[in-house]
Amino acid sequence: MCGIIGYVGYENAVPIILEGLKKLEYRGYDSAGIAVCGRDGFDVVKQKGRLDALEARLEAAPLSGHMGIGHTRWATHGEPSDANSHPHVGSRSKIAVVHNGIIENYQRLKARLEQKGIRFASQTDSEVVAQLAETCYDGDIMETVVKAVGRLEGSYALGIMCLDRPDTLIAVKKDNPLIIGVAAHGLFIASDVPAVLRHTNLVYYLNDGEIAVLNKDGARFYSLDREPLQKHPETVTWSLDSAEKGGYPHFMLKEIMEQPKVLRDTVQSAVSGEAKAAADSLDPARFDKIVMTACGSAYNAGVAARYVFEKLCRVPVEVELASEFRYKDAIIGEKTLVILISQSGETADTIAAMREANAKGAVTLSIVNAVGSTVAKETAHTIYTLAGPEIAVATTKAFSAQLALLYMLAISFAYKLGRLSETERDALTDEMKALPGKAEALLGRTDEIQHCAAGCIAYKSIFFIGRNVDYAIALEGSLKLKEISYIHSEAYAGGELKHGTISLIEDNTLVVALSNCERLAPKIMSNAEQVASRGARVLFVGSCAPAEMGDRMSVIRLPAAHELFSPSLSVVALQLFSYYVAANKGLDIDKPRNLAKSVTVE
Ligand code: F6R
Repeated sequence: MCGIIGYVGYENAVPIILEGLKKLEYRGYDSAGIAVCGRDGFDVVKQKGRLDALEARLEAAPLSGHMGIGHTRWATHGEPSDANSHPHVGSRSKIAVVHNGIIENYQRLKARLEQKGIRFASQTDSEVVAQLAETCYDGDIMETVVKAVGRLEGSYALGIMCLDRPDTLIAVKKDNPLIIGVAAHGLFIASDVPAVLRHTNLVYYLNDGEIAVLNKDGARFYSLDREPLQKHPETVTWSLDSAEKGGYPHFMLKEIMEQPKVLRDTVQSAVSGEAKAAADSLDPARFDKIVMTACGSAYNAGVAARYVFEKLCRVPVEVELASEFRYKDAIIGEKTLVILISQSGETADTIAAMREANAKGAVTLSIVNAVGSTVAKETAHTIYTLAGPEIAVATTKAFSAQLALLYMLAISFAYKLGRLSETERDALTDEMKALPGKAEALLGRTDEIQHCAAGCIAYKSIFFIGRNVDYAIALEGSLKLKEISYIHSEAYAGGELKHGTISLIEDNTLVVALSNCERLAPKIMSNAEQVASRGARVLFVGSCAPAEMGDRMSVIRLPAAHELFSPSLSVVALQLFSYYVAANKGLDIDKPRNLAKSVTVE
């Protein structure tokens, strides 16, 4: 989704903003722009396409200024074009705005402004904010911001400059993230921490309904009633290196390779760190059911974790897509634990699901990666995944951290509920502690997986099948493959094949069969034989893949792990498989088409 960066300080804002925009590229965008407060007015350059194109224009006609705002736009209202790119400047050239979010009442506002004779230069909802602010402006920019946002419906993170205040950058937000970075040479607004990490790790997290007023010497905060607010900056522990490629061709590969460390840190935190403290603050005996809700891969982590919670804790678990949960009038209450799973903590549907759960009196727990994010702040309990910044659009290490944390939580709950003895708990914890080493061994076999992937790029359709936890990872493997390789792919529970899908199997369909559950291995083998006899090729992925197999079958054999925790290994193999399929096709792996890292709109 859109990315915002703004700077006011002692240095030239333009290179700082450009570099910040590059750090926000991962969010997904199709145009970009920058505006600085120049001597004679706003200087604005907006460009459809990649940042290289914007950079080329800035090289040809350089800009400079000590205050500026920049934006990467992921089109929602109006096609990707120069005119629809941000920043938007009002017709009187007094106010410039960058916006992330959706103004739901923009058509009504636009019609009224047009009646007053204002002419719009774009098709966007965002331009309405600049035009509206200008009509409210009477010399007091704070009052203007308060009045303008008071008329907006929907969601927004806004960076605002006023030509009469060339030293003051204003930020305000509702339901979209914004942070304020504090560096020695100036201050920043940004959608996300990686955009400012090169300059500072001291940040304020802006809350909904707070206004930040920045000049080069500091930040002041106000409520929408213009009451001053006391806020304290937080020190981000993410290093700059963690947001760089570090010699890898893609962030995705780097992040896949980081998983042994992520697993180690996560398990450690659950054994004796902050994750343990958070888990200890929950009494599982209070709950008669657990609901997990999330989107995309985070939902798949919930699907895998449900098997583990139900098996170990014997508590009913429901897993719901957040986009469905929010509108279904869920049957939940104070005896329900609702677990929200999210890397970004800013996914619009997950936020809505969380608010629905809070409103219905359920106990909410978030498993979230982005510190200070909306989901982390608004849930009663938060456990952070220690994956560090994840830049590639396709999630890998954050997914692995979610899985590991959920497994550790299930072990802890099962012990507290008396379902596991101390010895059993420790044995399962030891299984978890062994995972990072096994993941490392698997990551040492990239050549084998690369070779296997190279033979798969021509398939038009690839099916993933599995049973039990392998089914959950089939869902994730299929999602990973389709999002970065653009090959059509579906995942099915092995037992479902014969209920319809098998009609799609023909010569040269590839079926990836997950097999990590000893007791279910014969069932998956029989599914594999059924599709192979109809012309499919079968690629087994797992520790329980058959030793002997037909000539239409091959295998990526995985290290043995506890059946329940095997997804932590099989997902790594499938991530690498997808990565190499996409790499062999020469695709833009870190920024797949049409996708955004953080889906902040519905
Ligand atoms: C897939 C992927 C997405 C996210 C989903 C939820 O690789 O990354 O499916 O998992 O958009 O995002 P978060 O976890 O930020 O709520």
